Amino acid sequence: MEVLKDKRILIGITGGIAAYKAAEVVSSLVKKGAQVKVIMTAHAMEFIKPLTLETLSGNPVYYDMFSRPGAWEIDHISLAKWAELVVVVPATANILGKVAHGIADDLLSTTIMATRAQVIFAPAMNTNMYTNPIVQENISFLRSKGYMFIPPAAGRLACGDYGEGKLADIQDILAEIDNYFSRKSDLKGLKVLVTAGPTREYLDPVRFISNPSSGKMGYAIAAACAERGADVELVSGPVLLSPPPGVRLHRVETAQEMFEKVMELFPSCNIVFKAAAVGDYRPEAYCPTKIKKDSERLILTLIKNPDILKELGRRKDDRILVGFAAETENIEEYARKKMREKNLDFIVANDVTRHGAGFEKNTNEGLLITREGEVIAIPQMDKREFAHRIIDEVIKRIPVLRRVSN
Ligand code: PMT
Repeated sequence: MEVLKDKRILIGITGGIAAYKAAEVVSSLVKKGAQVKVIMTAHAMEFIKPLTLETLSGNPVYYDMFSRPGAWEIDHISLAKWAELVVVVPATANILGKVAHGIADDLLSTTIMATRAQVIFAPAMNTNMYTNPIVQENISFLRSKGYMFIPPAAGRLACGDYGEGKLADIQDILAEIDNYFSRKSDLKGLKVLVTAGPTREYLDPVRFISNPSSGKMGYAIAAACAERGADVELVSGPVLLSPPPGVRLHRVETAQEMFEKVMELFPSCNIVFKAAAVGDYRPEAYCPTKIKKDSERLILTLIKNPDILKELGRRKDDRILVGFAAETENIEEYARKKMREKNLDFIVANDVTRHGAGFEKNTNEGLLITREGEVIAIPQMDKREFAHRIIDEVIKRIPVLRRVSN
């Protein structure tokens, strides 16, 4: 109840059959003490009348860029600045497509473009529309830019089809809004070091040994920590992602470079999340010119790279170390072994052979294992939410953390 008190929440309603469910979201938020304003698109008003939302929110409903010619405020700018959180419920394929492509042609899309507040989309649409690769690409793109999603549920849709596309349960939407505000500053005053992506172990100037890590998991952790108020250092191997807002990015290529950067940053950090997929071995010899393909066989000798996390385990003091274990079999057993050997407080074991988990995917699932032996199963979910869940569990178990004063 307290978490939402006086929070300024802007609800965007777009034109889908689930528009009527937005009324319940607005009503519940108001009951929890939030200040709620509503923007409706023209299509939303075909499904539900503004008067309903006006009555429930206790505020005028905004729907037209030019509806108040005498007003001194420019609605899309003032609403964009007013909001602490924007939730689009339901979000149609149309609004996702518009925002993904920078189109701002009505009050809602313009406000979303102008706001610096977090925007959460709760999509709802026909299952074929939802699974359409264009919609999925727009969702992936928006996620990569920091927009959050409350994924739709699967079930019987209003059109009679079965599948994904049904608006998430109202309670889940409310819980997500609650989570957003309660997590918002729980890492304030803490310095977090995150590693992400692969390393490249060069044979010559144009060839290297690497792995498929996209950096999505590590970047999601960095973004989640920054959202929660931490001061975040992100050490990243070569990936195609932009750094999350408010995060200091340090680019590295090889395991040795990652080792050096991490050791430099580690002393001032409180928590480390080690999501990078570090190359365990590198070629013993590096050829400074391109190796010619004259011989039928080329034998490579590999030597071991430094184990960065193990070294952190030796130097850790009262810092919290969260390792990752990318496994393909005996997941829990191997992860526990790594936790012991590297002196970790937590390890996230992900089975990278599972559909929707591990390398390159937008989702992950796994086991969070604590030093005391507790095992928390985290089901499959978007990597950003997965990151938040790990952080939730970690901070729950370490109530007294040394705060670094800036
Ligand atoms: O980047 P994505 O495409 O999103 O994929 C995410 C992921 C699968 C890479 C991520 O979820 C993950 O599992 N990361 C850890 C991958 C890994 O290297 O696991 P490992 O079991 O080989 O290593 C165990 C731990 O030791 C890891 O925290 C690793 O960062 C660390 N390590 C390993 C070797 C080494 N030389 N130095 C290290 O610090």
